[in-house]
Amino acid sequence: MPLNPRIDDWHGKTVWLVGASTGIGRATVERLAARGARVVASARSAASLQEFAAAHPGCEALALDATDRQAMQAAAAGIVQRHGALDLAVYCAGTYTPMRATAFDLDVALKHQEVNYVGALYLLDAVLPTLLAQARSGRAAHLSLVSSVAGYRGLPKSLAYGPTKAALINLAETLYLDLRPQGIGVSVVNPGFVETPLTAQNEFRMPALISSDEAAAQIVRGWERGAFEIHFPKRFTHVLKALSVLSDGLYFAAIRRATGM
Ligand SMILES: NC(=O)c1ccc[n+]([C@@H]2O[C@H](COP(=O)([O-])OP(=O)(O)OC[C@H]3O[C@@H](n4cnc5c(N)ncnc54)[C@H](OP(=O)(O)O)[C@@H]3O)[C@@H](O)[C@H]2O)c1
Repeated sequence: MPLNPRIDDWHGKTVWLVGASTGIGRATVERLAARGARVVASARSAASLQEFAAAHPGCEALALDATDRQAMQAAAAGIVQRHGALDLAVYCAGTYTPMRATAFDLDVALKHQEVNYVGALYLLDAVLPTLLAQARSGRAAHLSLVSSVAGYRGLPKSLAYGPTKAALINLAETLYLDLRPQGIGVSVVNPGFVETPLTAQNEFRMPALISSDEAAAQIVRGWERGAFEIHFPKRFTHVLKALSVLSDGLYFAAIRRATGM
């Protein structure tokens, strides 16, 4: 029995994805558009979004900064006005700068909080009244947050990034408990390493690295299957899941051994 209603037919579905200009978000909107969804693609880079919309009739470019509360409100209101409903809202915007406690930078940490976490709260604030009203009138909707396996437990260089992703996982679980009984699906996406502009800065060899197309395929399959946690690639995420249930001492020792830090 899936934890969420399956989304098996994308035709006529309106999807709003924030973080759609590059990487995983871009590959995901391409895949959804190819399946017949009406996608509203948001991020700051207007040119990239317009290129996407021009290549996919019926889809829309809606440039915004996810850390701008009013812009998120106005965007959601406009989508509902133009399309009459919102079937799937996805928060995929994210930023990542490696950071260790020995070079702590408060501004960088707060930027991660704004983009990776607070922006997701703005999305919720903007769409929840509509999704709840829709569910009451019998039209199901789905909310999805893109987090990371870096949110499972603490990792080296993840001082600014990891805590925001842990917060998103907890947020998604709590939303699931509240919203699933109201008829709204909730999922959290936890990718391992994906080749995108975000990871291009990594100087180390990324284990089990996959392409953004493969990530998008896994994400769309997860929504279609009605999964709550969509994690991939399994050969990597299963290892991290096993590590995450170790006692603190064993976990810290294993991570130090694996990363040399
Ligand atoms: N790549 C990985 O290995 C990996 C692993 C786990 C999780 N993730 C997560 O997956 C998501 C997508 O990351 P990615 O790897 O695909 O990186 P990416 O290519 O850098 O994509 C990040 C997206 O977020 C958007 N964004 C950033 N700041 C924004 C803001 N203030 N307002 C609106 N949009 C904003 C970017 O667009 P603009 O710059 O145009 O605004 C872009 O579309 C992130 O949440 C990331 O944490 C990635």
